[in-house]
Amino acid sequence: MTSALLPHEAVVVDRKDETPEMFSLRLRFTDPEVQAGYRFSLGQFNMLCLPGMGEVPISIVSDPEDRQTIDHTIRQVGSLTRNLGRLEIGDRLGLRGPYGRGWPAASAEGTDLVIVTGGLGCAPAVSLIEFALRRRSRYGRLHIVQGVKHAHDLIWRERYDAWRQHPDVEVYLTADTGDTLWPWHLGPVTQFFDRIDIDPTRCSVFLCGPEGMMKAVIREMDRRRVPARRIWLSMERNMHCALGACGRCQLGAKFVCRDGPVFSWAELAPYLAHQGI
Ligand SMILES: Cc1cc2nc3c(=O)[nH]c(=O)nc-3n(C[C@H](O)[C@H](O)[C@H](O)COP(=O)(O)OP(=O)(O)OC[C@H]3O[C@@H](n4cnc5c(N)ncnc54)[C@H](O)[C@@H]3O)c2cc1C
Ligand code: FES
Repeated sequence: MTSALLPHEAVVVDRKDETPEMFSLRLRFTDPEVQAGYRFSLGQFNMLCLPGMGEVPISIVSDPEDRQTIDHTIRQVGSLTRNLGRLEIGDRLGLRGPYGRGWPAASAEGTDLVIVTGGLGCAPAVSLIEFALRRRSRYGRLHIVQGVKHAHDLIWRERYDAWRQHPDVEVYLTADTGDTLWPWHLGPVTQFFDRIDIDPTRCSVFLCGPEGMMKAVIREMDRRRVPARRIWLSMERNMHCALGACGRCQLGAKFVCRDGPVFSWAELAPYLAHQGI
């Protein structure tokens, strides 16, 4: 019998440096049977494990229909992520997952998507955008709003340029502090909502980033009468088991690892209201 806590061995089949701090790893299980049986849904995460060091939750950014490899984009913030950043093609690591509940891609079909992200390269939102663009006829208009603190925090500039070439896709980029080479907007992400034609009866709102930013967007959506059940947030908490067993990621009566990381605002409001969100 194998334990749900026991990782399977995976190998790095490709890697790409996105910025000095961020990198992407393309992984494949070394056991072909494990790879063949691996299924995930959009917005779920894996636990990546370095033997003797520990493990970290990381979102899956590849397409759920790609059964050959598993992609992750990682920012180096501490010891584990820095050591993952040293992995080269051919190196091995442990992987267990997938875990959690991801974005409700099916229930958003037929609606306009408003995707608002904040901070440095929000991996779960990128996977959602790529997913919707590959299945363009299933969704209405896409409004992509990305905010960063400083102009130099924006990564994946070429992706935003590529996304805005698609019909019915609008991309808004904004920074709290710009520089001479910043051609877009200055100010909070909420400034764009007066320009976006939001029909509260046929839109789905997806949020990923700092909780303060998500709180501000939720207030705007509430003003426009978007129902709380059509607003989705991807949450982050420190994790240990990822199985709903240790309580490390508890949020009221919910566990972010098991019941999330994606929650509707209707579910989260009772727990986060008293924390100020
Ligand atoms: C569901 C989920 C999905 C994630 N997806 C990604 C992803 O796709 N790419 C990515 O780069 N990161 C992702 N993260 C965050 C990632 O797990 C943490 O950055 C990582 O655990 C840090 O480990 P470390 O040992 O390198 O740093 P540590 O030394 O553990 O921490 C460094 C700093 O980051 C803070 N921190 C650590 N983990 C978290 C967390 N979960 N939430 C908030 N603050 C934290 C610590 O308090 C500390 O200040 C995700 C987290 C969750 C919960
Ligand atoms: S990480 Fe253990 S309960 Fe969520």
